[in-house]
Amino acid sequence: MTPATRLHPDTWLTADQLGQVYPPYRKTFPFETDMIDDAHEALRAASVNGMLRGNLKGSLREADALKIYELAYFSPGPILELGTYHGLSASIIATALKNAQSPFTLTSVDLHKELSDLAARNLKSLGLEAYATFDTSDGTAYLDRLAAEGRTFGFVFIDHSHQYGHVQAACERLADLVMPSAFVLFHDFNDPRNSDPAETEYGVYQGVIDGIETTAFEFAGIYGCTALYRRRPLREGQRY
Ligand SMILES: C[S@@+](CC[C@H](N)C(=O)[O-])C[C@H]1O[C@@H](n2cnc3c(N)ncnc32)[C@H](O)[C@@H]1O
Repeated sequence: MTPATRLHPDTWLTADQLGQVYPPYRKTFPFETDMIDDAHEALRAASVNGMLRGNLKGSLREADALKIYELAYFSPGPILELGTYHGLSASIIATALKNAQSPFTLTSVDLHKELSDLAARNLKSLGLEAYATFDTSDGTAYLDRLAAEGRTFGFVFIDHSHQYGHVQAACERLADLVMPSAFVLFHDFNDPRNSDPAETEYGVYQGVIDGIETTAFEFAGIYGCTALYRRRPLREGQRY
């Protein structure tokens, strides 16, 4: 049974506000301590001027990293990540799964095999290889494959292409893949490049807004440069 979670609709940003403010980390799950555990605290301690100084290459804000750890720690099912790179976010997710003694693991996918292999090596060097599997595929094709296999997830982290079409395509496929009441976190949502017409490669904000099925998902908050959505709980008598 998933505990009651808190949404923060007050953190919504309009397109012209992107990148002007980075809302701080706030709890989604109702744990009683300030931070979940020492590893959660360590992410905060390793951040300088709002940016995580991680032990792997990658770009996460402090609030992004804290939110990723929390959502992985409390995930009620397997975790999916689109966009592996060197495995920084994957290492945070794997650490949370380990510390939560979770029965679930992470599946992370990247377009480039050399990055999938590099991330696998990086997680092995951190002793986290039991908690993550790395696949190589285009994100949209991978989501179609997972849906065809009937796979569902307790937390999905979307951090692959920044292009409008790719983000929109991912969003359109999420309703079948995300468990009721579970969360999807979009990286680079709160990024000023999303509202700069010169930045043709950046359309995360608009791709999410246009692609996400609002009958299936509700906005749950912005933290750092991420946006969180919750799969709506099933109504009485509704079948999954
Ligand atoms: C921003 S990086 C991911 C960072 C990673 N999540 C982290 O926090 O360390 C984006 C990654 O997405 C991959 N990517 C780009 N387009 C993709 C696509 N269409 N399908 C799958 N992966 C893609 C890139 O190769 C790159 O490694």
